[in-house]
Order: sequence, then structure tokens, then C-alpha cells
Amino acid sequence: MSSWPFRVGFGEDAHRLEAGRRLVLGGVDVPHAELGAVAHSDGDAVLHVVADALLSGLAMGDIGQYFPDTAEQWRGMDSRVIVERALALVQERGWVPVNVAVVVTLDRPKLGPLRAEIARSVAALLSLPEGDVGISFKTSEGLAPLHVQTRATVLLARVEAAPGVSGE
Ligand code: C5P
Ligand code: MG
Repeated sequence: MSSWPFRVGFGEDAHRLEAGRRLVLGGVDVPHAELGAVAHSDGDAVLHVVADALLSGLAMGDIGQYFPDTAEQWRGMDSRVIVERALALVQERGWVPVNVAVVVTLDRPKLGPLRAEIARSVAALLSLPEGDVGISFKTSEGLAPLHVQTRATVLLARVEAAPGVSGE
């Protein structure tokens, strides 16, 4: 690994949507969603990409290695646990997230009214100010009405590179 004090991480996820399931995004239950995510966990496609982005920035693999979707113990699990674990792994190595950008591609429902709540929820999990979590919503223009797709980037910094932290 190079000695640069910054890394970019990236994550991507998709879940099939079905009637009669919960739709949870960034730890927020989407009210009145006609379709919800088919998943082994709670299917939170925002938290899955945030966790994958954290891990990928330090080349630590992906969440499937830490939470196999074949393991009975993780059935229906709260995906906040996945982010907490990924964050702990990053912090144990001396790194912190600086900011996160998430894109959610979903045709329905409109998520704009939930943007601030989702950003607050993700920011709280990462101990970041709300303004350091960007959340964008896109439709698939009808190309994937039965899917939710998510992508996230994260900037990681070495703790010693943080403003106000002396390396001496
Ligand atoms: O994908 P498209 O450009 O058509 O999205 C138009 C607008 O709809 C975007 O500005 C986005 O914020 C919003 N949107 C939303 N909820 C979605 C998808 C898009 O609020 N599920
Ligand atoms: Mg997922």
C-alpha cells in the first residue's frame, strides 16, 4: 500500500423488488412502498454499498466475506450492523471516512422527501456531519422497474492526516 494518506472506495449493489417486502434505504423504512427488497438481510441496498465502499478503499474485500448470505445467523439482519463492522475494520487500521456519495436508482416511489432523513441516518452511523453525506436519486427510466440499484463512493483519510491531528 502506498503512503498517500487518502483512498477512494467504491461500492455497487442491486436487489430485486417484490410485493409484500420492506424497503429500507440507509436505515430508513420507506413508507407505503408497493415493492420491497428481496434479500437475506433486511435488504438495505444503501448501507450495503456504503459498507462495500469503506472496505474497498483499503482493499479489504466486500461484505459477503464478513457476512455470508448463506449463514442462517444473518437472516433478516439489520444492515446497520454491517456498516458498523466495516467502519470498525477501517478505524482499526487507522483510517476514517471523510465524505460519502450515494446514488440510488429506483423507479418508484419518489424518494426526494426522504433525502435528509437518509443522509442523517447514514451520517450518524459513520459519525460524520450530515453535510458530508450526499444522496442522489435516479429513476431507471422504466428499464429496471423491479430493481433497486445503488452505488457509493467514499473518501478515506489516515487519522494522522486529519486536520488538527499532529503526527508528532
Ligand atoms: O432519473 P431522473 O433524472 O428521471 O430523476 C428525476 C428526479 O427525480 C431526480 O432529481 C431525483 O431526485 C428524483 N427521484 C426521486 N426518487 C426516485 C427517483 C428519482 O426523488 N426514486
Ligand atoms: Mg445488498
